[in-house]
Amino acid sequence: MRLAVCCVLASVCALLFNSRVCHSIRWLALARTGSSIPFNQTQNCKHLEGLVSAQQQLCRSNLDLMQSITQAAREVKKTCRKTFSDMRWNCSSIEMAPNFPPDLERGTRESAFVYALSAAAISHTIARACTSGDLPSCSCGPMASEAPGPGFRWGGCNDNLNYGILLGSKFSDAPMKMKRSRSQANKLMNLHNSEVGRQALKASLEIKCKCHGVSGSCSVKTCWKGLQGLGGIAQDLKLKYLSATRVVHRPLGTRKQLVPKDIDVRPIRENELVYLQSSPDFCTKNEKMGSYGTQERQCNKTSNGSDSCDLMCCGRGYNPYTEKVVERCHCKYHWCCYVTCKKCERIVERYVCK
Ligand SMILES: *[C@@H]1O[C@H](CO)[C@@H](O)[C@H](O)[C@H]1NC(C)=O
Ligand SMILES: *[C@@H]1O[C@H](CO)[C@@H](O)[C@H](O)[C@H]1NC(C)=O
Ligand SMILES: *[C@@H]1O[C@H](CO)[C@@H](O)[C@H](O)[C@H]1NC(C)=O
Ligand SMILES: *[C@@H]1O[C@H](CO)[C@@H](O)[C@H](O)[C@H]1NC(C)=O
Repeated sequence: MRLAVCCVLASVCALLFNSRVCHSIRWLALARTGSSIPFNQTQNCKHLEGLVSAQQQLCRSNLDLMQSITQAAREVKKTCRKTFSDMRWNCSSIEMAPNFPPDLERGTRESAFVYALSAAAISHTIARACTSGDLPSCSCGPMASEAPGPGFRWGGCNDNLNYGILLGSKFSDAPMKMKRSRSQANKLMNLHNSEVGRQALKASLEIKCKCHGVSGSCSVKTCWKGLQGLGGIAQDLKLKYLSATRVVHRPLGTRKQLVPKDIDVRPIRENELVYLQSSPDFCTKNEKMGSYGTQERQCNKTSNGSDSCDLMCCGRGYNPYTEKVVERCHCKYHWCCYVTCKKCERIVERYVCK
């Protein structure tokens, strides 16, 4: 019900404000609601907040998938926050799914990252679930025919990337493929960035090997194709976020397309994140722009990266405070087989932005 209202209003809103749009990552709300609803009855699909009707339909026809999709939503939240914990914008607004504040709603660089990560995560989780036998509809990915190298052979279970991409994109792209959908420019942006996320996922597929042979001699190595963890993929996407391209929606050739805003007559590249609206510097609080400011954020006095007190606090300065840390220390190994440790207290100085 809520979604229908949202999308009807969005077309009005898009006309009025040209930027407030109903967005397509509302399914991230499953991180919260998905665990309280058992996925054993198709009628439960309609009680899930944040799903458009095509996604509810997919839920009904692929109930088995919903556990994985719920897990993907949780991973997106956790990974986004971790990847941006050293930045002024720290992804905290993702917790508000399905109703996002403006930093994730306006076609910003930040939303570009979250769309890409969400698309990568859903396909990642499904591909892995195939491998671990959690899904009856799929199993290991196809095995290559050529041997990986002399002394190596294929064995074990490949992550089923093709199935993950197929089902993952069907689900996560569904809101962007709806006919009665908001601004064309935002839709193109979101679809493009989702595809960039899936490209990063594909690029993370690597050959992993295990040694066999008499007493670990490693005379035989069996190998399979496995995906990197989502954290590594998110780091890759963060670099793309930092070098994202601002685009505008204008005619190029026969159709209106997204093209770089700088006078740079080229189509957008398939491996670059794109955004339509510039972001504030996130230094000061401005709720209308989705900026919470960095007051009271912790900063690192010895770092010279984005979490340094200089950058994090935007030159306003910082206040020190001390914190008592309790750690395990003086650990002793006893034969056989346990370890005892003492508890040590240490005072550390920390800093928060003024
Ligand atoms: C679905 O799962 C819930 C909770 O696990 C249980 O109470 C309910 O009976 C199940 N329904 C069916 C149709 O299996
Ligand atoms: C992230 O930023 C918000 C808003 O500035 C702040 O309230 C929150 O404590 C920050 N989270 C972390 C883990 O630093
Ligand atoms: C601060 O940054 C330095 C240098 O990057 C790093 O070694 C240290 O662990 C950081 N301290 C904290 C508390 O994060
Ligand atoms: C800090 O800055 C120095 C010099 O500008 C550079 O060589 C070093 O790699 C930087 N360290 C980090 C952690 O970014």
